[in-house]
Amino acid sequence: MTQRPTVIAGNWKMHFTKRTASRLAREVVAMHNAHPQSECIVFPTFVHLEHVRRNLKNSGVVLGAQNCHEAKTGACTGEISPYMLRDMGAEVVLVGHSERRHDFGESNERLAKKLKTALRAKLDVILCIGETQAERESGDTFVVLARQMAALKGVKAELAPRIRIAYEPVWAIGTGLTATPEIAQEAHAETRRLIAEHFGPDAAATMPILYGGSVKPANVTELLAQPDIDGALVGGASLTIENFGPLLSAAPK
Ligand code: PGA
Repeated sequence: MTQRPTVIAGNWKMHFTKRTASRLAREVVAMHNAHPQSECIVFPTFVHLEHVRRNLKNSGVVLGAQNCHEAKTGACTGEISPYMLRDMGAEVVLVGHSERRHDFGESNERLAKKLKTALRAKLDVILCIGETQAERESGDTFVVLARQMAALKGVKAELAPRIRIAYEPVWAIGTGLTATPEIAQEAHAETRRLIAEHFGPDAAATMPILYGGSVKPANVTELLAQPDIDGALVGGASLTIENFGPLLSAAPK
């Protein structure tokens, strides 16, 4: 029996209107109430945070944000501080999603700053890591994971309970290609070893590591059956309750 909760998280990316985001939030709440065994988080876009927050109120579903800036306040046109997100009711933020790393050029150094500011702002963090297809093919997967996990350097071990990791191989995101459970498990085991290096064995035993990359009802059960896969960070299949609902009910009781 693992000491870790199962976490099912929906990354809604740049989708929805305030009406459709609110409706999906209500549907997720109903589904989570029926299957409360997992920790459930939704990540709407910034402008829908307030609408979604109202619809999650008094439910067990947690409100998250998809990104934040690394500064508390400042001359940063178009950016959002983690303190503002906390003020809006968000409890957790994604740091280092592959779309931020690769489409918006966010470096490990910058992501390390974001992670630390977010923790100071009292947001929990899901640090996303994962290799590209080219990095996997050249045998560099573990080197890349170590480099990305270095964002945890300098974070006090007492903050470890507020951090989760999402392993998302870039080649599996939005492509329909899922890592086989064995490939995912191997990367998760290495990630857990890296958590132990940073924070010690207790944190490694208790920190959830989510898998992300084309998770859907058809593959979630075999992924969650792996010893080091503690949940899923879901993009495409989180956008309808028809797909997301079964992920919540598939979480082990
Ligand atoms: P996907 O996205 O489930 O559509 O592959 C996962 C993610 O980007 O977090």
